[in-house]
Amino acid sequence: MSKNQFGKQGWTPERLGILSGKTYLITGANAGTGFEASKILLKKGAEVVMLNRNETKSAKAISDLKAELGANAKVSSIKMDLANLASVRNAAEEINKNVPKIDALICNAAVAQIAKQEFTSDGFESNLGINHYGHFLLVNLLFDKVEQTGGRIVVVASEGYKMGLKTIQFEDMNFDKNYHPNNTYCHSKLAQMMFAYELQDRIKAANKTVKVFVCHPGASKTSLIKKDAPFATRFMWSIMSSLPIVQSAEKGAYPEVMCATEDHLNQEAYFGPTGKMQWTGPVGECKMESFVKNKAMMEKLWTVSEEQTGEPFQL
Ligand SMILES: NC(=O)c1ccc[n+]([C@@H]2O[C@H](COP(=O)([O-])OP(=O)(O)OC[C@H]3O[C@@H](n4cnc5c(N)ncnc54)[C@H](OP(=O)(O)O)[C@@H]3O)[C@@H](O)[C@H]2O)c1
Repeated sequence: MSKNQFGKQGWTPERLGILSGKTYLITGANAGTGFEASKILLKKGAEVVMLNRNETKSAKAISDLKAELGANAKVSSIKMDLANLASVRNAAEEINKNVPKIDALICNAAVAQIAKQEFTSDGFESNLGINHYGHFLLVNLLFDKVEQTGGRIVVVASEGYKMGLKTIQFEDMNFDKNYHPNNTYCHSKLAQMMFAYELQDRIKAANKTVKVFVCHPGASKTSLIKKDAPFATRFMWSIMSSLPIVQSAEKGAYPEVMCATEDHLNQEAYFGPTGKMQWTGPVGECKMESFVKNKAMMEKLWTVSEEQTGEPFQL
């Protein structure tokens, strides 16, 4: 891998200037890296609109942020459940009406390691439905506003993309035949990455200006492994989390904040911690496996995603 463009320590929030006047939308911002990213951006004077599924958790997150940063912190929330396309549509409508600009839309929310096959309201396997289809529709519906702002889209991926099937299982997107808690999560994260790189190509072809960046948080201490994960996964994660191979949720937020704010980043790259196994360490450009940019698969996934979300995505 080439030398880190931000020096030995990699990208850190110390590089951030004043962000007053900027507006960032973050999905799944009541916890984990989304919450920490919100805090970093708010500290610099930005406005943050959280897109969360649970209003009680949103209220608590906002009150915690204001308690720490002051009552003037410009943070608000809009209810949006990525497991329900109607909810995504309602949220997008409210955003398009009431939020004047989007400097970056950070697609951060996710579910992972769900022990048994579950479905979203629209009948999608839950990892794919929430992590990919939900965000696909959201980006589609907010794209024009991001374009008007000259803004960015940030997709928070995972090193898991290379641990699962390493392909998109078009013949059984719901994993009816081979459901597996880790493989389905990894499948959804690969889908998110393929979507992002395909979106870049389409933006270029349409002469639009939106920038799209893909990053991952390494291995970070968050609430991602919840009680619906298999016992063995929860047990392993609790041991790993106590070791230095896993970093804080705050550090896990650096790549997405960097991708939302930093100039001179290479869109074709994949960003995150560059240390051991790319789980921790200085934030910069990471190694990415070439199968992510399988063009035929990216195009097919785009078509399938338009069909499944019921919304053509024309740029
Ligand atoms: N932590 C890691 O080591 C790690 C590693 C690789 C990739 N990642 C990625 O990092 C991102 C952030 O995850 P995290 O680790 O910070 O996990 P987290 O603490 O569990 O945060 C995930 C957020 O997503 C929200 N969410 C889940 N389902 C949703 C839905 N249907 N609609 C709207 N929001 C929903 C959660 O809301 P609730 O609180 O209501 O559940 C929560 O706010 C994810 O994209 C994940 O794939 C994390």
